[in-house]
Amino acid sequence: MKNLFIILCLSTIVFAQNKSIEERIDSVLSKMTLEEKVGQLVQYSGGFDTGTQTARPSEAHEKLISKGKVGSFLNVFGTESTRRLQKIALEESRLKIPLIFGLDVIHGFRATFPVPLAESCTWDPQLVQMSARWQATEAASTGLHWTFNPMVDIARDPRWGRIVEGSGEDPYLGSLMAAARVKGYQGDNLSADNTIVACAKHFAGYGGAEGGRDYNTVDMSERTFRDVYLKPFHAAVEAGVGTLMSSFNEIGGVPQSGSKFLLTDILRKEWGFDGFVVSDWNSVGELIPHGFAKDLKDAAILGINAGVDMDMEASAYFNFLADLINQGKVSKNVLDESVKRVLRIKFRLGLFDDPYKYCNSELEKKTILNKEIVNASREVAKKSIVLLKNEKNLLPLNKNLKSIAVIGPLANSKDDPLGPWAAQGRAEDVVSVVEGLKNKLGNSVEIHYEEGCKVNDPSKNDFAKAVEVAQKSEIVILCVGESRGMSAEARSRAYLDLPGVQEDFVKEIYKTGKPIVVVLMNGRPLTINWISENIPAILETWFLGIQSGNAIADVLFGDYNPSGKLTTTFPRYVGQVPLYYNHKNTGRPHNKNDFYTSYYFDIDNSPLYPFGYGLSYTTFEYSNLSLSSDRIKKDGTITVTVNVKNSGKYEGEEIVQLYIRDLVGSVTRPVKELKDFKKILLKPHETKTVHFLITPDKLMFYDINMNYTIEAGDFKVFVGKNSVDVLEASFSVID
Ligand code: BGC
Repeated sequence: MKNLFIILCLSTIVFAQNKSIEERIDSVLSKMTLEEKVGQLVQYSGGFDTGTQTARPSEAHEKLISKGKVGSFLNVFGTESTRRLQKIALEESRLKIPLIFGLDVIHGFRATFPVPLAESCTWDPQLVQMSARWQATEAASTGLHWTFNPMVDIARDPRWGRIVEGSGEDPYLGSLMAAARVKGYQGDNLSADNTIVACAKHFAGYGGAEGGRDYNTVDMSERTFRDVYLKPFHAAVEAGVGTLMSSFNEIGGVPQSGSKFLLTDILRKEWGFDGFVVSDWNSVGELIPHGFAKDLKDAAILGINAGVDMDMEASAYFNFLADLINQGKVSKNVLDESVKRVLRIKFRLGLFDDPYKYCNSELEKKTILNKEIVNASREVAKKSIVLLKNEKNLLPLNKNLKSIAVIGPLANSKDDPLGPWAAQGRAEDVVSVVEGLKNKLGNSVEIHYEEGCKVNDPSKNDFAKAVEVAQKSEIVILCVGESRGMSAEARSRAYLDLPGVQEDFVKEIYKTGKPIVVVLMNGRPLTINWISENIPAILETWFLGIQSGNAIADVLFGDYNPSGKLTTTFPRYVGQVPLYYNHKNTGRPHNKNDFYTSYYFDIDNSPLYPFGYGLSYTTFEYSNLSLSSDRIKKDGTITVTVNVKNSGKYEGEEIVQLYIRDLVGSVTRPVKELKDFKKILLKPHETKTVHFLITPDKLMFYDINMNYTIEAGDFKVFVGKNSVDVLEASFSVID
């Protein structure tokens, strides 16, 4: 009898599992009360806060779970905590719908990888995918199901502190990085125990904030919105991203967390997205200060009708949605659709079949900071470094040096290399630059460390000690930049110079006449004109994570030849921003001989370092750019061929970049647009022939009637080592 019962139970489970997810969703939905449905759309922070303090429900979280009044938590992690809360959902709530736990795993959970902006400088989507895969493996092992990443906002303004979280200014590269991260987090099977669901954010246009001030107004044409800012989101959706986060900002008077055009018409109807949208922290509530909703009830109506499925922390759905349905102010269909989307992702994660599968403390212990993950972090870190200057081949350094001064506020920092949004990253796991050099050189070289000054403090009292140390050393490695908290959410800056007295400090050390390598750590492009003119070698290292010091030492001593290239333009002065390579020509492009043209009369138009820029210890020469044809039909293709020679002494990787310009259109087109690139490895004196295929999709854009199309006409092709230093050819597209 007992056996028969077990067989019956098992066959019911197997039967249930064999049903399609959609059937299972409908079956759960049919049993839900109105309150339980609303509950699935409510998310609270169960731990620390990652946004403004907002109205919290009075009842304790546990009670809410047991009543089915909350569907998700953010900022709860660790197998113990997640198991405890999941248990309440499964044992005390009527329908036993599992919770989904989310966290900002932006560049690692405990094993911190380089910040996303740094990773984008690898121009290596496969590597970035691998990084996300490891991050997911670690995060999943601690009971997490969901990361609020990738952040795919295009950012053209380095004053905006969140530029550090994304992949820079280019929609093509940004789209590849977006897709890579989605695939890395989600893997091939979302229900595996080492995959987590990704969230493309902040949907959309958040990076276009006026004046680079976080949360500020955004306004742009629908064409620019679609051609530039939406591209990486579309790529994330195409790559199968399970969720998106609606952003704080407005565009053209419509806050994006209340934009039906964006969240329903574009996302669902045009792109066919079937996952769910979570609001950013209280962004539904912020429809009120925006002047879009008159109160929280109104905000709930606008949010849900626009297509925000889950309300993070605003309590708008929690407090008002059930009443609004009862009063007929929100349709039952709209509610049901949102609930289905949330359930769909929970089903895809396999949570209904094995709600505790992520709550395995053995796996957690084995996975966190394991050797493979730490090694992977170092691999990504060294490839993220960009060599900005290397006069007279000062780098790589010789391991036979007798003494090195390692100085500056970031030289021995174990906290700053973690960067912002470091989840559970800990300073104790970080290898500082001083430590990295000691690891590399052992006791064979004297390493003298002095801090000299703080990152952002007016005191020059310790300059002298650092000067002394510099004087007694053969070479100086000078680590300056921003602290980890200076570029992040709500960390906009009006100046892009080195903060505090650091530039004066660099000048003081320069006076010693010692050879200096500046190692920059920062989360945004900085205006470093003096350093760029006077210091012979400069490495941009961003915030590289736990293996920072080891990776920097690898590059300084040539165990790894740097290959990173900038994904955001470095301006000379803050007055130039927004400054980006794929700008328009204007009716009066700058001409030195004509006063009435587009320029600043007090500074040069050009950037300090352009998009795509980055040096190597070797040199590369480009030649013989040729096209397979100079005329194609609209559905035709062209093969572009170029020779790249390693003309230097070291083996090295080069990122060969292809740009296109559409010369005349029914609407104006940018002066250059990145359309392809290849990373190649060349031995000294080796030449490789690189081929690119220009396919119709690379020539498409939104025309005067907002049709996504190709227009006949003349095009230029540029191939080179960055967006400025290029060879050029031409072709035409004919009807
Ligand atoms: C940020 C999001 C983040 C969320 C949850 C917000 O303040 O804008 O990027 O995912 O908090 O922590």
